[in-house]
Amino acid sequence: MLNFPVWEIPYLGGGLLIAIVATIHVFIAHFAIGGGLFLVMTERKAYKENDDRILDYVQRHSRFFMLLTLVLGAMTGVGIWFTIGLVSPGATSSLISIFVWGWAIEWVFFFVEIAAIIIYYYTWRKLQPKVHLAIGWIYFISAWMSLFIINGIVAFMLTPGAWTETGSFIHGFFNPTYWPALVSRTLVCFALAGIYAFLTASIFSDRELRGKMVRYAAKWSLPSLFLLPLALYWYYAALPDVAQEILTGGLPFIYNTAVLSVVAGIALFLLVAAAAWFFPSRVPLAYSIILLLVGFTVMFSAERVREAIRKPYVLYDYMYTHSVLKGEEEKLRDEGILKAWGWGKYDEIQEETMIRAGQDVFRAQCMACHTLGGYNDVLKLAEDYTADDLEIIVLELDMFRGYMPPFAGSFDEARAVAEFVMSVKEERSDNLTTIRSGR
Ligand code: HEC
Repeated sequence: MLNFPVWEIPYLGGGLLIAIVATIHVFIAHFAIGGGLFLVMTERKAYKENDDRILDYVQRHSRFFMLLTLVLGAMTGVGIWFTIGLVSPGATSSLISIFVWGWAIEWVFFFVEIAAIIIYYYTWRKLQPKVHLAIGWIYFISAWMSLFIINGIVAFMLTPGAWTETGSFIHGFFNPTYWPALVSRTLVCFALAGIYAFLTASIFSDRELRGKMVRYAAKWSLPSLFLLPLALYWYYAALPDVAQEILTGGLPFIYNTAVLSVVAGIALFLLVAAAAWFFPSRVPLAYSIILLLVGFTVMFSAERVREAIRKPYVLYDYMYTHSVLKGEEEKLRDEGILKAWGWGKYDEIQEETMIRAGQDVFRAQCMACHTLGGYNDVLKLAEDYTADDLEIIVLELDMFRGYMPPFAGSFDEARAVAEFVMSVKEERSDNLTTIRSGR
C-alpha cells in the first residue's frame, strides 16, 4: 500500500481539499436524488390540479435541475475520484478492490439515471403524462439506488463491522452505520429538494404562484429537517467508541465543527419556516441563496466531521491514515518506512542526508494530516518542542493528543523527521526575523 507517490498540497492539506470537492459534489448529488422525486410529485400535482402554471414551473425547474446535476454533479464526481486517488491512493485502491461489484452496480444505476433525466427533459409535453411520469420515476428510483450502493461504501470506511474478520462483501457493505446513514442521507435529499425549489420558486413574478410554490417547497424541507436529528442520533449510537469520543470533544476543532453543523441546521429550519409562514409570496431570490449557503454549511461541516472521526484510520480498523495497514507498523519499526515506501531519495540515513530523509518520512507518515504552515500546522503544534521532544513524540505518536496512528518507521527515521520539522521551523523563523528587521 506504500508504493504510491505523494501529492503535496501546501497550506490546505489533502483532507481539507477532499472535503471541499466532496461537499460540493454531495450537495448537488443529494439534490439530484430528492429533486428527482420532487419533479415527479410536482408534475403529478400539476395534472391533478389541472394547473398549467405549475406544469410550466416544473418544466423550468427540470431544466435547472438537469444542467446542475449533469454538468456540475458529474464533474465534481470525477473530481472526487481525482482527489482521493491522488491524496490517498492506497485507500482508494483498497476501496475499489473490496467493492468491485458494488462499483459496477453503481455505474449501471448511474447510467440509467443520466439516460432517464435526459429523456425526461426532452420529452416534456411530447409524451402522454403517464409515460412522462414513468420516466421520472425511473430517474428517481435509479438515483436513489445509486445512493443505496455508494452509502454502503462510504459508511464502510468508518464502520467496516464484521468485514475485518470475515472479509465478506455483504458484511462490509451492510455495516453498522449503513441503515442510519441511508436514512439520514435520504432525509437530506428531501430537505435539499425543498431548498433548491425555493430558489426556482423565488424568481416568479406571479406573487400568488410564488407564495404557493414556496409553501409547497417548505413542505419538503421542514419534516425532513425535523426528523434528521433522530436519524443522526441513531447514526451516532452506531459509531465506534473512539469516534464518539472525538465527536464529543476529544478533538476540540472537530467538536466545534459538529456544533456548527447543528447550529446551521437549526438556523436552516427556522429560516425556511419563517419564510413559508410569514412572507411566502415575497421571498426574494437573495433569501433563497442564503438558504442554499446555510444548507451548504450544514453539509460541509457534517461531512468534515464524518471524515475526521475516522482517525487514526483511513479505513477503520484496517488501514491507518498514513496508508500503513494495521499491524504492519511492527515490521516497519524494524525495517524503516523509507525502504518500504520506495519513493525517498535516501533510505540509509546519515548525518548529511538526515534532513532530506526526514522530509520523505514526513511525506510518508505525517502529511496525511499535517501541513507545514497551513491546516493542522505541525510547525505550530511543535512550537515549544525541541528536536529531542519531537523525536519522543514521534516514537510514541499514538499516545499524544490528536488520535494519531502509531509511527511506522525506525528510530533513525523518527530522529530524521524531528530534525526536518525543526529545520523548517528555524528556516521560517529566520525568514520572519529578516522581514521584521528589514522594516
Ligand atoms: C491521523 C492524522 C495524523 C497523523 C498521520 C499525524 N498527526 Fe500529528 N496530530 C494530528 C492531530 C489531529 C493533532 C492534534 C491537533 C490539535 O490538537 O489541534 C496532532 C498533534 C500533533 C502534535 C502535537 C502533540 C501534542 O500533544 O502537543 C505533534 C508534535 C504532531 N502531531 C506531530 C506529528 C508528526 C511528526 C507526525 C508524523 C510522524 C504526525 N503528527 C502524524 C493528526 C495526525
